[in-house]
Amino acid sequence: MCRPEASYNRKVTQSASSPIDADSSTWWRDSVFYQIYPRSFADGNGDGAGDLVGVRQRLDYLRDLGVDAIWLSPFYRSPMADGGYDVADPCDVDPMFGTLTDFDEMLSAAHLRGIRVTIDIVPNHFSEQHPWFQEALAAAPGSAARERFIFRDGRGAHGELPPNNWPSVFGGPAWHRVADGARTETPEAGGEQWYLHIFAPEQPDLNWANPEVPAEFERIMRFWLDRGVDGFRIDVAHSMAKPRGLPDMDQTILAAAGAGLPHHLDPRWDQDDVHDHHRGFRRILDSYPGERMAVGEAWVADDERLARYVRGDELHLTFNFKLVEAEWDATELREAIDMSLTAMRGVGSPATWVLSNHDVVRHVTRYGGGQIGLARARAAALLQLSLPGAVYIYNGDELGLPNVELPDWALQDPTWERSGHTDRGRDGERVPLPWSGSRPPFGFGAESSWLPMPPEWAALTVEAQSKDRHSTLAFYREAIARRRELRSLHTPTFEWSDHGPDVIAYRRGSILVVLNAGTTQVALPAGDIVIASEPLSAEGQLPPNAAVWLAPKG
Ligand code: NOJ
Repeated sequence: MCRPEASYNRKVTQSASSPIDADSSTWWRDSVFYQIYPRSFADGNGDGAGDLVGVRQRLDYLRDLGVDAIWLSPFYRSPMADGGYDVADPCDVDPMFGTLTDFDEMLSAAHLRGIRVTIDIVPNHFSEQHPWFQEALAAAPGSAARERFIFRDGRGAHGELPPNNWPSVFGGPAWHRVADGARTETPEAGGEQWYLHIFAPEQPDLNWANPEVPAEFERIMRFWLDRGVDGFRIDVAHSMAKPRGLPDMDQTILAAAGAGLPHHLDPRWDQDDVHDHHRGFRRILDSYPGERMAVGEAWVADDERLARYVRGDELHLTFNFKLVEAEWDATELREAIDMSLTAMRGVGSPATWVLSNHDVVRHVTRYGGGQIGLARARAAALLQLSLPGAVYIYNGDELGLPNVELPDWALQDPTWERSGHTDRGRDGERVPLPWSGSRPPFGFGAESSWLPMPPEWAALTVEAQSKDRHSTLAFYREAIARRRELRSLHTPTFEWSDHGPDVIAYRRGSILVVLNAGTTQVALPAGDIVIASEPLSAEGQLPPNAAVWLAPKG
């Protein structure tokens, strides 16, 4: 539990020598954020798992890449049943990642370089190892300790059936039975109540209708805000409020979709009451100086409903996952952009563009893998970095990393076990970053990395790519630098331009962005090339799977 009196209690914003302007308003509207998956980013102590010292040591790399802010996925105390999204102590650093002092040192070192630091919070659930849940297990049904979670009696003559038919996102039922003050692996053998876990059984859902829960999250947020963090990424921001009465789901939908229920058909997400909680988060953030912000992870397909998360008194940003879901197809990409922009315009919030993260197959692989996948990924980066709004780059995007086909023995994502080895889970996009050298683990870990790295990544290391001016890393550095300089990319102006069905083109003030998603090269209007994802043809045409930013000639 977070005890603010035991925390630093220093009302820090940014250190006096920090180049960050503490009062610069709305910095988050068009920032380039860089998502760090701490276990996979950089390993400071050579044990094969990334850590906070590793992050600090690589801050110059991030400064040179040109990012404005980082988002750190969870580094809190955790048994790691879900890669740290099972938080046992939200106010302490897991020894795997270091200490609170390591965090503070990393934070001030980032601020010194002008990089803001945002961190994950996970309000939907705690780890089963959190003291609250341990207390709840030991307490009687109906007790105050159980009221912090969602415990219910089972159905059937002896309570042997789960309280409703909800599946867990990771496979299997979303309910787990308890007996004798512990979680039981064999509910049919008897026991007492069941508790809800929309994700893994090790992640009991919190009861946000109980005022103790928002009060505890206020303590958690203040603990980190007092230390000086610039904001939060809110995990499953659409999930905290549950449908009243926890009704069964429609059998036909369930039978057809199983655990992989499409988000818009799943009644557990996006309940209206969830917005009260976001308003509460916003009040906490606004009570601090320096424009502290929050971005929501809300998988809400309906644009109008997604926009509700970023109304003036709620979150600042919400990821627009439409770009993640779009195939490499001009119509789909255009629609994804159009719908996101239209939705956000309605509430006056910027759109937030993502291509990859730790939960989805990396876009190099989604777009076909190999040279084609990489070419398309580079072209997509020129879209992402030129659209109006904020950008989230996932660590490794800048190296053009693909997903890795891992051997069965290496898989750690709970989905693998819970799906009965039918869904390989998300480890393929979480393989550590290759830094240097010619053999795995490429400067990450002394001998091996927590997920094995493929030998062919020798060509993709930061060291190798830093020496090659045509590398994806050099390309990202250039694109981010140009984005920073070009004033028209920092205004809301956006206008579609028609260059044929297979071409995505739009104007951002004086800059014309053109992406060729077709199979033949396309002629470009006159203009100076600011940056191109691939060399143009000898006749100055844009090849397939490539994009360009053009400035007026002169
Ligand atoms: C979303 C996170 O991004 C994902 O990694 C995690 O498994 C779930 N939320 C549950 O916390």
